[in-house]
Amino acid sequence: MKQLAPSILSADFSRLEQDVRSIEKGGAHLIHVDVMDGHFVPNISFGAAVMKSLSGKTALPFDVHLMIEDPDKYLEDFMTDTTSFITVHQEACVHLHRTIEHIKSLGTGAGVSINPATPLYVLEDILTQVDMVLIMTVNPGFGGQKLIPQAVDKIRILDEIRRDRGLDFLIEVDGGVTLDNVEEVADAGTDILVAGSAVFKAEDIEKTVSEFCKKLERK
Ligand code: DX5
Ligand code: ZN
Repeated sequence: MKQLAPSILSADFSRLEQDVRSIEKGGAHLIHVDVMDGHFVPNISFGAAVMKSLSGKTALPFDVHLMIEDPDKYLEDFMTDTTSFITVHQEACVHLHRTIEHIKSLGTGAGVSINPATPLYVLEDILTQVDMVLIMTVNPGFGGQKLIPQAVDKIRILDEIRRDRGLDFLIEVDGGVTLDNVEEVADAGTDILVAGSAVFKAEDIEKTVSEFCKKLERK
């Protein structure tokens, strides 16, 4: 089943708990947590303390996307009983295999992400180790950008590679996903779809999430 992971980057931080309750009621499957350090990406978002303030307030599992340099230093901070995935960027990891093993040793799913300009082939040797590959369909750093269409071809190719090699990692897509393109992105082979501004900037968050989920259920 295809899943929706709304990104709280676009939520109203002054009412984060209510916004998260709305996505939960609408039927979202995960909470996407965008962590930015102002170095790997040109923006600073929030850290583990903000994420942990939601622990116990929602049953939705955390899907942590670390857009930070030297992620190994901070992995433990993002572990909670409901952390389902921690994803790091290939571009930010000198020893990616070690970092992926580190995430797995914490008892959570290990993901790797690549930016739009990074080719798939850099992941060739790590695909057997990861639980998820996150394809960025915008340059990371900000919510509300337009999806880069060429990045959707990458999803199709990765899905083919997955089939050819008989692997079972999940494919997640992040950036510029809206109600208008969610079906095309899902059809390309995506398992988990992130949506930030399309969910949290909507007039009715709960209703918008349920519209996303209805479209995904038909896939
Ligand atoms: C971009 C983040 C995304 C972002 C998605 O750097 O990783 O998760 O919040 O936001 P939208 O859906 O608005 O592109
Ligand atoms: Zn993200």
